[in-house]
Amino acid sequence: MLRLRKTITAIGLASGLMISMSYAPQLFAQTYPNDSGCKKIENPTVEQKGWCVAIDRRKGNCLACHTIMVDPWPEGFPPGGNVAPALVSMKDRFPDPAKLRAQIYDSTAMNPNTRMPPFGKHKMLTDEQIDEIVAFLMTI
Ligand code: HEC
Repeated sequence: MLRLRKTITAIGLASGLMISMSYAPQLFAQTYPNDSGCKKIENPTVEQKGWCVAIDRRKGNCLACHTIMVDPWPEGFPPGGNVAPALVSMKDRFPDPAKLRAQIYDSTAMNPNTRMPPFGKHKMLTDEQIDEIVAFLMTI
């Protein structure tokens, strides 16, 4: 009887492990896909859209200057730049999302000599894309 119970527990643990091993990487990959992964997400959330706009080299290209602290980093994806401070702990450092939005919309308002492009003012990104980036950044 005890032996049987042990066997059942072992099978239970093993199948639980197998389920989590086969599902977990997919879930993560969906959260932070690389650029080609971004094209494949069906019904992306606003936050996923924001991540994808941020890393897209024809759109935000934030990685040209910033590291973005997401975990796990998409496999085989080049790291961000060290020109600008790492985008980390955003929801703690920007309790007011409007301030974060303002930085991305027009970085020159904060610092006229900044190297960061004023994405909204110069219409490099749409208002909607900026909102999506803000929604994403508020998750990290
Ligand atoms: C060409 C380089 C460059 C690019 C591209 C760039 N930034 Fe920046 N960013 C900077 C620099 C430099 C600063 C530091 C503040 C300053 O110089 O005014 C900064 C500051 C920031 C800050 C405030 C600093 C902080 O406390 O974290 C945020 C938020 C930010 N950038 C977000 C973004 C996002 C989002 C993108 C992409 C849509 C982006 N940046 C693209 C250069 C860049």
